[in-house]
Amino acid sequence: MRDFQIESSDRQAAGRSSSVVRSAPGRFTTGPRRRHPGSPAPRRQTLAQQADKYALYQEAVQDPEGDVVRVRRMYERLYGRTPRTLREDFCGTAAYACAWVAAHRENRAWGVDLDAEPLAWGRAHNVARLRPEQARRLHLLQDDVRTARTPKVDVVVAFNFSFFLFKERRELLRYFKSCRAALARDGIFVIDAYGGPESMQKNIERRKVGRFTYLWEQARFDPITHDASCYIHFEFRDGSKLHRAWGYHWRLWTVAELRDLLADAGFSDTTVYWEGTESATNEPNGIFRPRAHAEEDPAWITYLVAKK
Ligand SMILES: C[S@@+](CC[C@H](N)C(=O)[O-])C[C@H]1O[C@@H](n2cnc3c(N)ncnc32)[C@H](O)[C@@H]1O
Repeated sequence: MRDFQIESSDRQAAGRSSSVVRSAPGRFTTGPRRRHPGSPAPRRQTLAQQADKYALYQEAVQDPEGDVVRVRRMYERLYGRTPRTLREDFCGTAAYACAWVAAHRENRAWGVDLDAEPLAWGRAHNVARLRPEQARRLHLLQDDVRTARTPKVDVVVAFNFSFFLFKERRELLRYFKSCRAALARDGIFVIDAYGGPESMQKNIERRKVGRFTYLWEQARFDPITHDASCYIHFEFRDGSKLHRAWGYHWRLWTVAELRDLLADAGFSDTTVYWEGTESATNEPNGIFRPRAHAEEDPAWITYLVAKK
């Protein structure tokens, strides 16, 4: 979930964490090392030093299997058939594209990302978990989403707000047009967005995820340009912290602006899938339904489905 360019501090963190992962098995295969009697005891690595920020990110913010089902239903509602081909833009580690090809033996997917590092992590972890027959139906491209050439697909997705990094209207319009061109005749383009008054304030949200705590920090928001800077940090039970594991510098686009841009890009219709609330707690319930209007909401996440 960032410029979706990884910042230099992030790259260093990534380098540290991946070397830790690679060297970890070696510690066990070489057996116990002899220590010189006078030498100090080796310092144990903190949990943050041992952590892999890609794995933490996937666990904390992604739900690829749930999104595959949601997108299939969105498509079926419009076209009465099941979509089989997908392009995942800003795919990073391609978690979604992997879930897509794993979901059905006829599904095929193309993942596009500019950066070799997340693609390599995705190949080593997500693609490696697929059966060879599933992996053959997946194609990962290191390319720019605005110019990448892929076969026409039923569905293009750009998730975790990645397109927010295009801050200029003409830049985002160009990207939306390229997505429309990448779609087959009965194609849909699915994006997510977030907003609400709380997303325009400095704020840190903490959430316990398994054995670590995920922190989402909204560090800066400019009410004139809607530029926002946000960070993800992770905290561990030994008190160590992966500070600014991920950073995002983007524009908080509104739903109304996005719908206008999608229409300008040539999409015939856009449906907004709004999340329902649990009546007992008034908390979001994880169920997204098409809505033309919504009640005011301090912090929301939504899906937009644009029909070619
Ligand atoms: C954090 S990831 C998003 C991962 C994934 N889509 C998700 O749902 O969490 C954002 C990715 O966008 C990529 N990216 C940024 N600009 C891009 C561009 N113009 N074309 C392709 N990928 C780009 C970055 O390399 C990064 O891997």
